[in-house]
Order: sequence, then C-alpha cells, then structure tokens
Amino acid sequence: LTKQYMEYEGMRVPGGVHTHESLTWAWKEFETRDDDVFNVTYPKSGTTWLQEILTLIYSNGDPTSVKTEFSWNRVPWIEQHSGRKQIENRPSPRLITTHLPKYLFPQSFYKTKAKVIYTVRNPKDVCVSLYHFSLIAQFMENRKDFQDFISLFLSNDVMFGRWFEHVKGWLTMKDNPNFLLLSYDNMIKDPRSSVVNICKFLGKDLDAAAIDSVVEHSSFKSMKENNMSNYSAVPNEFFDKEKGSFYRKGKDTSLFSGASEML
Ligand code: PPS
Repeated sequence: LTKQYMEYEGMRVPGGVHTHESLTWAWKEFETRDDDVFNVTYPKSGTTWLQEILTLIYSNGDPTSVKTEFSWNRVPWIEQHSGRKQIENRPSPRLITTHLPKYLFPQSFYKTKAKVIYTVRNPKDVCVSLYHFSLIAQFMENRKDFQDFISLFLSNDVMFGRWFEHVKGWLTMKDNPNFLLLSYDNMIKDPRSSVVNICKFLGKDLDAAAIDSVVEHSSFKSMKENNMSNYSAVPNEFFDKEKGSFYRKGKDTSLFSGASEML
C-alpha cells in the first residue's frame, strides 16, 4: 500500500482512496439535495461519533442499522473514490461525511437548503490522535518522533490541510441557519444535550426514550465494542491493528508536556 499523497487544489490527501476525479466530482459535479445532511470534520475531530449519532437519529434510536452496517457505508465520505457510487442514487435523506476544507465543498450546496454539521475538536487532541492514527494507518505519512509529527501537523503537508485553515474556512458559515457548529469537548461533557441540539437543528422530533437510545448506542464504550464502527473489520493492509486501536482514550494530551508551546 502506498503512503504517497496526491495534491489537489493546494491540499494534500492520501492517494488511492482519493483520486483527481473523485475530488472534482464532489466539488463541481455532485448535485446536493435539499434534505442532504453533511457531517463535516477535520480528521480526528469526531467524524465516526457523528456518523453513529446521525444514523441513530434517523432510525429514531433503533440500533439495528449501526449494528449491521459499516459506518463508512451508512454515512460515506463524498471525496473518496467510492463516494459517487455510494451517494449519487441513494434515497433521501442522505447522510454524507466529508473532511473537505470549505473551499472544496460541493458548489451545488449553496443553492439548496441542505444542512452542515461541523464538529471541531481541541487541536492538541487532534494532533495527538492523528499522531497515533498515522502509526497504524498504512496509507498515512507518519513521523515516529512526536516533535517531528507536530511540525508536519503545523505544515501544509498534513492531509486535508492545516487545522487552523480548515476551522477558519468553515467558521465563515457560522451565521448560516443551515450550519451547526459542535464542539467535541462539549459533547464529551454533555452528550445528551448535544444529541437534543442536533435533533432540533435537523427538525427531528425524538421522544425521551429514543434520545436515550441515541446517547447510549453512540457512547465511546458502545462504539468501541461495535464491529460496524470500530474499524476492526478493516484489513491489516490499511490499519495495522498490532500497532494500536482506532479508539484510544478519547482524550489524552500527555504527549504535549513540554511541547505545547508549539501550538
Ligand atoms: S477519522 O479517522 O477522521 O474518521 O477519526 P474521527 O472519528 O474523527 O476521530 C477519532 C477520535 O474520536 C474518538 N471517538 C470518540 N470519542 C468520544 N466518544 C465517542 N463515541 C467516540 N468515537 C470515536 C476516537 O477515540 C478518536 O480519538 P482518540 O483521541 O484518538 O481516542
């Protein structure tokens, strides 16, 4: 498997899963529908968590779907080469994931009433999470030394561009009524309120028992144990599971002692 990144409009992404065609399709050709819902994140900021929460909200808290279908099929990435096949003819409402920076987001979105949920996470946690992920993800460039990884994280060579630019770009939408800004750290503190907030934004009227079910089945513990969301089914060719797990602690900045002044 190659660790070779490709360049696209000033952004670097792992080659193989992304192609020039797939990125251009997502940006310029994809036809957004009014009832599309986009789960937008910088990598390692709560993507999989939102994939789970959104699936559960749209099933009224019924966990059948999260327990029987892979997360990446339920809420697929639009920019990946499999995106078009998975998304184009899917019945509405479509739940779509993306790590794209705002300037490469589908242009057709702006003519519709579709919704974006952007989840942001403390960049120190993102950096630590991405560091560990890069050591197990065979398609990612990595640096064994954490200080070297911080330099990569702060440079334009990091996949999907710099965290700072990504967040700055997406925050220009903060006053748009079809945009919801979530904080991973607030979700950790109060997951139930976050789910209620997401339901309100989506116009989904779930009763208390359904909300409880969404919270329960999207908890760190449930997801870590759910083979449809914990990436255990991904072949070692992509994730070397001997070297670590997709789910680490959910929070750990201990590597930063002595290095935090760099961020
Ligand atoms: S990816 O590869 O971009 O799709 O990764 P992403 O899902 O955005 O981020 C992975 C980190 O999210 C943590 N995670 C969760 N935290 C709290 N609650 C739930 N339910 C949950 N699900 C995933 C996961 O553990 C990764 O964080 P770290 O800090 O590495 O543990």
